[in-house]
Amino acid sequence: MTLIIRRAKDSDIGDIVHLWKRNIVTNNTPAEIKQMFQSHSKYFYLAKEDNLIVGFVAGTSKWRLGRISGIAVEEEYRGRSIGNKLLNIVENTFIKEDINEIYLEVRVSNHKAIRFYENQGYKQIKIKKAYYSNGEDAVLYKKEL
Ligand SMILES: CC(C)(COP(=O)(O)OP(=O)(O)OC[C@H]1O[C@@H](n2cnc3c(N)ncnc32)[C@H](O)[C@@H]1OP(=O)(O)O)[C@@H](O)C(=O)NCCC(=O)NCCS
Repeated sequence: MTLIIRRAKDSDIGDIVHLWKRNIVTNNTPAEIKQMFQSHSKYFYLAKEDNLIVGFVAGTSKWRLGRISGIAVEEEYRGRSIGNKLLNIVENTFIKEDINEIYLEVRVSNHKAIRFYENQGYKQIKIKKAYYSNGEDAVLYKKEL
């Protein structure tokens, strides 16, 4: 039952893709997720419990700006601060890399994630109209670290 949060390794990428596709309504293909990992592995962390990968966070960076490209916790493990721990560890890694601004997009319909991010100190910047392939708008969030 011990929860372990650690940086993701090459051998974890299959599980991360699986978790991502199962928990996030996403446009990202497995190949894109693997590519993201290869370029930004230092910002990929996972949560492991009972020898199972139960959550992950995927950070990326560009032009000294950080981005949360994906975060998910398996449904039966939610509400236990695992998401909070994953977000904190990737934020601390950004700080160590001297990256002090983080952005992320979330579907306007994803109320749970919106509340989660707002509780973690993310501020709404703007709405990105028809950001997703099904025409749904995204809310752009920012946090200064
Ligand atoms: C968003 C997500 C990652 C949050 O993960 P989580 O592990 O449930 O996050 P936390 O446990 O840290 O916080 C969730 C809530 O549980 C509450 N909580 C945390 N620890 C708790 C505890 N010990 N007891 C009771 N409640 C607790 C938090 O206060 C928080 O409440 P809030 O929703 O009002 O903010 C998760 O809901 C998820 O995977 N969603 C599907 C994927 C998704 O939408 N991802 C984001 C878009 S990319």
